[in-house]
Amino acid sequence: MTTSRLTAVSGACTHLGCRLALDATQRRLNCPCHRTSFDVSRDVLQQQLPITLRPLPKILDRESGGVVEVFVPPTG
Ligand code: FES
Repeated sequence: MTTSRLTAVSGACTHLGCRLALDATQRRLNCPCHRTSFDVSRDVLQQQLPITLRPLPKILDRESGGVVEVFVPPTG
């Protein structure tokens, strides 16, 4: 059995769900709504809100035959 080196995380902010923007150079995900940043492994790096934000949820992933598969839960 091979251990995955991937970590897929949600691209939605844990505050109000705004879509995060990837800054690949800085290896962070930035929320445009309230100036919050998460590192690519899911932890909050920076925020200005008077509450504690949760880290980004992990999403199940795997690599199979050179293809990365990400299991996105159904909506609705
Ligand atoms: S929605 Fe991202 S910090 Fe508010």
